[in-house]
Amino acid sequence: MARTRKTGQHRNAHKQPQSQVVAVYMPRVELCAPKLAKMNSKNLNPSSFKNAFMQTLRGQGNGLLTAHLYHEPAHDTGAKDTHDLGVDAAAKSRSNRLLYGGLAWEAFVQEGGSYDILDSDMNAIEKAMKAGLIDKLPQTMNIIEYGPGGKSGVRKPAHLLQAIRQHPSGRTINSYTAVDILNRFATESALEIHEEFNLRAFAVVGDFTSKNKLALPRNTGSVPVATSFGGGFANAPDYSPIQGRNGKSNAAVHFSQMNRQHGLGSYLLMTYHCERDPAKLMEEYRRTENLEAFILSGFVRAIGEGVIIDKGYDPFSHWEIDPTYDDKIHAVIEYAVCKDDHSVATREETFHFKQGARIPMTLSHKWNKADYKEILGKAGYEIMNDASNENETSPHGIILAKAVRKPSCP
Ligand SMILES: C[S@@+](CC[C@H](N)C(=O)[O-])C[C@H]1O[C@@H](n2cnc3c(N)ncnc32)[C@H](O)[C@@H]1O
Repeated sequence: MARTRKTGQHRNAHKQPQSQVVAVYMPRVELCAPKLAKMNSKNLNPSSFKNAFMQTLRGQGNGLLTAHLYHEPAHDTGAKDTHDLGVDAAAKSRSNRLLYGGLAWEAFVQEGGSYDILDSDMNAIEKAMKAGLIDKLPQTMNIIEYGPGGKSGVRKPAHLLQAIRQHPSGRTINSYTAVDILNRFATESALEIHEEFNLRAFAVVGDFTSKNKLALPRNTGSVPVATSFGGGFANAPDYSPIQGRNGKSNAAVHFSQMNRQHGLGSYLLMTYHCERDPAKLMEEYRRTENLEAFILSGFVRAIGEGVIIDKGYDPFSHWEIDPTYDDKIHAVIEYAVCKDDHSVATREETFHFKQGARIPMTLSHKWNKADYKEILGKAGYEIMNDASNENETSPHGIILAKAVRKPSCP
């Protein structure tokens, strides 16, 4: 008898897991360039940094560089400064105190000043929850966040997840997936959510403006809820200078891709900013050292990747940033303004810039609920919440939409 009992205990002990795979790190690959044939009249691939940079210098579009600025050289801890980028002596001596790419973005968010979107978005989420947002979400869901932005940005989905978990309706979240163009932002966000909620969390590096489907983990038995905070989709590029798609059409294409990715019945929860008072916007987007470092990262990256031939070229001595509100397209454009007459040699052509020349680097559309109704409608989504939070006192709104039909966009 005693022997049998011992064997049974032994077997039971084996049933308890003694070890577990908790993280898998994948070797980085060069993500293949998606085919976006109709994106603009020249059929260039705007998803490649080089094309976006060259088209920007040629004046072929506005805001083509935004996604490419959230960049760090290919190692997981990120570049501390421009030293790590293959930028040469002269430029280094001036700019090595300046942050680059993703780190410049984070420093800009940390300094609070102009980018108060953290608190404003949190308030919008909070108000929407008080107005019954969680009751409108599916009973069992998997959350896929588009552009979480790393440790600070991920506070927004964390706030939402906590509220869903505490809600009396007993809704279940099966998993959280962070999709970001920057490896570090995706992995940091997934880890933060995993740590805080002990939830299955995935980090996916990908471009949500790409035509190709994102490589998302398979999830059965739960409804996808895509989230986007901080206005990532409002940065849609504008190719109207070369008779290509404008910002709204491009945003509709990006949401259409989201619809195809997750399918009919999936949800989208997104915040938006629709301030249109130029004075307030100019204050919010005013120049700070970190914001300038982030935006001029486009030039630094071009030097690091050999697009600009002169490794000693110092973008900070030739350019400064200046925001402008364009009322026709309802967008803040951050321009790089040329400080002196000079030339920039690239492998394909040499550009001669005059003092005062303006290059539209980034674009942030201030679309309101009516604009999103139009954009999302083309992408096959229907808005599900009446209370958008957008009112006279707050230009920050939140939209819950559902994919109810196939997109009419390509
Ligand atoms: C404006 S920030 C918002 C960050 C965060 N959600 C917040 O609210 O503070 C945009 C985020 O989207 C990511 N991103 C920008 N363009 C992207 C793209 N085309 N595909 C995937 N991620 C992108 C950036 O790396 C960044 O994390």
